[in-house]
Amino acid sequence: MTTLIAGITGGIGHAMAAQLLADDHDAHLIGLARSASGNEELAELAARYPHRMTLLDADVANPEGLKQALQQLPKELKITRVIYAIGLLHDAAMTPEKRLADIDIQSMAHSYQVNTLGFLSLVQGLVPWLRHREAKTIVALSAKVGSLSDNRFGGWYAYRCSKAALNMAVRNLAIEAQRGLRPSTVIALHPGTTATPLSAPYQQSLAKLKVHTPQETARNLWVVIHSLTETQNGCFLNWDGSELPW
Ligand SMILES: NC(=O)c1ccc[n+]([C@@H]2O[C@H](COP(=O)([O-])OP(=O)(O)OC[C@H]3O[C@@H](n4cnc5c(N)ncnc54)[C@H](OP(=O)(O)O)[C@@H]3O)[C@@H](O)[C@H]2O)c1
Repeated sequence: MTTLIAGITGGIGHAMAAQLLADDHDAHLIGLARSASGNEELAELAARYPHRMTLLDADVANPEGLKQALQQLPKELKITRVIYAIGLLHDAAMTPEKRLADIDIQSMAHSYQVNTLGFLSLVQGLVPWLRHREAKTIVALSAKVGSLSDNRFGGWYAYRCSKAALNMAVRNLAIEAQRGLRPSTVIALHPGTTATPLSAPYQQSLAKLKVHTPQETARNLWVVIHSLTETQNGCFLNWDGSELPW
């Protein structure tokens, strides 16, 4: 079984990769991030599990570069699982907006490129490796703050809007995949608040919430992913497997 984890250098992506390789001795893993091949922790993981990991460097905000990176994959490969664990909340150029006046259109567009369009570009580029008769699972790590009906605090325009758009992308793809990529299950999955570089600047305000370690989150997410059935196609699930409101 071949699994592709996009965002393999991230807190959650890396922990999911390490657990998959340790738990499933037949698993082959493709890891993608902007700097996957230069990441020391990944190099250690690859050395621990020889011939079971392939690393691809690609920026999902650059669709042409992403396509080129995917061309390195062998033509005969069958990918059965895609986990999109890429996400952008803040970087050197942007912090989450508190109010309308804080919105920077370029930063907001970049959030869409990474959080929403990157997912679609990736799956679009992977279609040749997904066209086979084995069951496929496509999981986009979304966020509860992307829920429209659950939004009671406002703020975080770019992240909330791009995750809400990701949820719609998942829902659309789930419908189309039933025609072109059967059998398949496509879901949006909220990982739960997790101590990673993405959440690090907000640790104080997160103090009231339960914050999981990346290892706890990875364990939770694998339990949900392993127990998925086709009836859950197109769902927005929480880290404990329960359904979330759109
Ligand atoms: N942590 C939380 O509390 C939390 C809560 C809700 C939802 N989530 C979601 O869970 C997912 C994983 O988050 P995390 O906490 O593990 O974040 P993280 O530690 O910041 O990791 C983010 C990953 O995205 C990759 N990435 C960022 N921009 C990219 C780009 N343009 N092209 C390719 N890769 C890119 C990073 O790799 P490089 O920098 O090496 O490219 C890294 O692997 C995200 O979708 C996030 O929104 C997290």
